[in-house]
Amino acid sequence: MRVFLGIGLPAEVRRAIDDALAPLRSRRAPIGWVAVDNLHITLKFLGEISSDAVGRVRDALRSDLPPSPPFELTARGGGAFPTLRSPRVLWVGLGEPLELVGTLQQNIETVLDRAGFRPEDRPYHPHVTVGRVRAGLPKGWGETYSAHLAGRTFGAVPVWTFRLYESRLSPGGASYTVLEEFPLRGEKEKGAG
Ligand code: 2AM
Repeated sequence: MRVFLGIGLPAEVRRAIDDALAPLRSRRAPIGWVAVDNLHITLKFLGEISSDAVGRVRDALRSDLPPSPPFELTARGGGAFPTLRSPRVLWVGLGEPLELVGTLQQNIETVLDRAGFRPEDRPYHPHVTVGRVRAGLPKGWGETYSAHLAGRTFGAVPVWTFRLYESRLSPGGASYTVLEEFPLRGEKEKGAG
């Protein structure tokens, strides 16, 4: 199974992003736009693993995740990886403070490392991928994209849970199924249920 951990976005936030992207989408650039229902923040990509391994991920996260309190993010602005000049991934950004999402991601890495899953070696930059660039994007598109979203906010993302998603790929695009939703708990709530 192909699985990853991520944070879902409220429907209003997904819709606000979708509305902001509409004029860019209509320009018919060679970009694979992410379906509005699929917009999410990735915490960890596990890739293709066996269903036994998925069971180990679920057990480890249920029983070993250190206290990780709920928090709130704000979706705003946009940019590109690796650079605006040569974009491959177009994303919507998240407002500061990002400490708590960083702590959550680190805690997940630590728990899964102990359970035998290789930790990510690249620094974590939380984002919402909205498009993947295909070959032949006209020059200046990355800059146009980021200028179009600059200063816009798409709403609050309250993070009370994170999810284990299964991703099925097909020519029509990815389809995601939520396999499990893990609640976040602060120090005090830990062990309370
Ligand atoms: P991103 O879009 O947030 O950058 C599901 O495929 C998610 O896992 C994607 O949204 C992607 O995150 C993330 N991911 C990370 N590494 C990946 C990889 N090597 N292949 C596919 N997806 C990956």
